[in-house]
Amino acid sequence: MTFQQHYAPVTASFKMAASTYLVRLHAPALAEAIRPGQFVMLRLPNRTDPLLARPFALYDTFIDAKTGRPTGIDIVYLVVGKMTALMAELTVGDAVEIWGPLGNGFPEPVGRELVGLVAGGIGQTPFLAHIRELLGTRGYGGQPPRRRVQRVSLYYGVRTAAYAAGVDDFKAAGADVHLASNDGTIGHPGFITDLLAQHDAPQHLFGCGPEPMLHALAKQAGQRGIPCHLSLETPMACGVGICFSCVTPVKTDDGWDYKRVCVDGPVFDAACLQWEK
Ligand SMILES: Cc1cc2nc3c(=O)[nH]c(=O)nc-3n(C[C@H](O)[C@H](O)[C@H](O)COP(=O)(O)OP(=O)(O)OC[C@H]3O[C@@H](n4cnc5c(N)ncnc54)[C@H](O)[C@@H]3O)c2cc1C
Ligand code: FES
Repeated sequence: MTFQQHYAPVTASFKMAASTYLVRLHAPALAEAIRPGQFVMLRLPNRTDPLLARPFALYDTFIDAKTGRPTGIDIVYLVVGKMTALMAELTVGDAVEIWGPLGNGFPEPVGRELVGLVAGGIGQTPFLAHIRELLGTRGYGGQPPRRRVQRVSLYYGVRTAAYAAGVDDFKAAGADVHLASNDGTIGHPGFITDLLAQHDAPQHLFGCGPEPMLHALAKQAGQRGIPCHLSLETPMACGVGICFSCVTPVKTDDGWDYKRVCVDGPVFDAACLQWEK
């Protein structure tokens, strides 16, 4: 295992949208090593409740203006329970316990023209760094920047406009952003996968979000013959392959078997996921 454990000071913390916050952590070694699609486990020190760490995707690395080197990581999170509610109270100078980089990250895209990223709920968070990696505006994991595709379209669906977080970041990173909302308060009224179906097929799809959205995306990708990778947000206890709390069924030659999302994912080929057991 090549992950590292750190006590990382908080250098920024602010609200981005309804119940949605960004926390920036000073962690130079982690920031140098982490790639888009990977995640970290985060725990609040000196507390026994919550005892267990929680997984969070890399939103992006923070680049020091003087050195041009990554010195921190940004995490964007939605407040849903105990840990995320406590995280919303973090202020500059607090510290968190963090370990990573974890998981496999996004694979190389198929095709050089157009990649489609599809996000639902808080599933947009892994895609800012991914857009920058795909368009070659930033290098990750110690690698120099390299342009992988000409264009990236982000399809991002939210419950209602107030929850849309990071839209300006995605546009500034160079993605064409297509929005949808369940109640029609922003973008296309309805499901983000329906909006995707109205557009030309990208050469590769990547998705992150609630399971019904991922299932619909996998189905559409299969019907349109588009390679598709999905980042799963399965609850995790250890993040490093020990506890087996994060398993998901994956197809095998003779049926299906469980894989640990933390070490075998969180990014899986959609065609390999076993939706019905
Ligand atoms: C690889 C990975 C990356 C993630 N990246 C992010 C991210 O960038 N931003 C972000 O906000 N969240 C992300 N998550 C989800 C995040 O880990 C959970 O929201 C967090 O653990 C909730 O902790 P809590 O103590 O606040 O809530 P808890 O008190 O643990 O749970 C509150 C409620 O939410 C439900 N819940 C908890 N975790 C999940 C989950 N993963 N999926 C569905 N329901 C859940 C519980 O069943 C409960 O009903 C990621 C998860 C994974 C596995
Ligand atoms: S979270 Fe413990 S094995 Fe995956």
